[in-house]
Amino acid sequence: MARLVIVSNRVPAARGRAQLAGGLAVALKDAIAERETLWFGWSGREVKTEPAEKPHARKIGGVQFATIDLSQSQYSGFYVGFCNTMLWPLLHGRVGQAVFRRDERDSYIAVNAFYARALKTVLKPADTVWVHDYQLIPCGLALRDLGVKNRIGFFLHIPFPPPFLFDTLPQGEALLRSFAAYDVIGLQTQDDADHLNQCFVRAGIEARAEAFPIGIDPESFARAAAKAEGTEDQTRLEESLSGRALILGVDRLDYTKGLPERFRGFAQLLRRYPEHLGQVTFLQIAPVSRDDVAQYRALKRELDALVGRINGEFAEFDYAPLRYLNTAIQRETLAGFHRRAQVGLVTPLRDGMNLVAKEYVAAQDPERPGVLVLSRFAGAASAMTGAVLVNPFDPDEIADALDLALRMDVTDRKARWRTMDAAVKASTAAIWAKGFLERLEK
Ligand code: F6P
Repeated sequence: MARLVIVSNRVPAARGRAQLAGGLAVALKDAIAERETLWFGWSGREVKTEPAEKPHARKIGGVQFATIDLSQSQYSGFYVGFCNTMLWPLLHGRVGQAVFRRDERDSYIAVNAFYARALKTVLKPADTVWVHDYQLIPCGLALRDLGVKNRIGFFLHIPFPPPFLFDTLPQGEALLRSFAAYDVIGLQTQDDADHLNQCFVRAGIEARAEAFPIGIDPESFARAAAKAEGTEDQTRLEESLSGRALILGVDRLDYTKGLPERFRGFAQLLRRYPEHLGQVTFLQIAPVSRDDVAQYRALKRELDALVGRINGEFAEFDYAPLRYLNTAIQRETLAGFHRRAQVGLVTPLRDGMNLVAKEYVAAQDPERPGVLVLSRFAGAASAMTGAVLVNPFDPDEIADALDLALRMDVTDRKARWRTMDAAVKASTAAIWAKGFLERLEK
């Protein structure tokens, strides 16, 4: 079997971590376990001088890592600038939040070429190369320009907008053309693949995108959730709730996640359905993300103020309805929190797939499962037929869905949960990785 070379901007070995962590590492676990793997990407470090093209080598959990540093100007032009102030909002359809700067676009192209040169120094002719996500779209073309003939696949983890929105990207056709360097192009949903294919057809580009919906490892998440019972964190959570129902949200602090609308939706629940006041707690876990990007800092200020206003309006001296955390919680602890939650509240304005929705389902106790309230604009929505689907832009619709979920009887909850559990098990991370790699190596 050919060696697998994974290329992603963020690598699980960055910043001195001792074990494989992070969503992509979990998703690729099985693929990594069964073959020799090299993982290439950014070290997570910004350096003051010109970074070296020779990657740092490291081995963790059987995986060989090769990472490179970025200079401060590369970090700001490539990562903060084009990746996260232009492409991220654009591909999520949030054109109003996108800011285009030609120098940042140039930095994006240059950093991708730099990644390709550094990668080539560790690449062998028979390697299968799998490039991940929007930060690295032109990496394949940059590798081809260096004469690399390997099989190279690309997977976009985030959505792709319809052509009329993509058109707002200046000189976007060049970015589209770079997709054609890949042997396989994967997106999360058929809608996303259709959008990209429509762009290809209009520009006369001979490339074809296909849908490969990503999943989780439901068995291991379910085990972690069941095992969490009786642990110290779980007991602390339980005691702090004093028997109240729990609504749980878990997201990176990102404006695509619909957090202000979600908080307003919860406030509308307490306002319009006052019978829930004092009976329910909403815990939102939202670790800070990309805080070098102005839009993310603005979102944090907005949420800080909103949480204060909502608790100011509805709290009592022994009850704060909304708990809001900016720190990350460990996966095992989180699994237990999901299991305790009567409602999983997942309302992104747009999301490639959203694995939190799948984790919430996997974590439930089959005898008394909770209810998933899910945005119709998450990639996961099409398979999650048992969820209560909402338009995440409408706080009142979120409030109605929360009321319905909190009042739902166990028979209805079980029936809904069973269909979702079957869907989560039918489309796992292992199936996703296997399907993509089989297609790439065919
Ligand atoms: O899934 C989207 C994604 O951008 C990944 O590519 C990335 O690793 C993750 O979210 C976290 O974002 P960042 O690497 O910018 O902190």
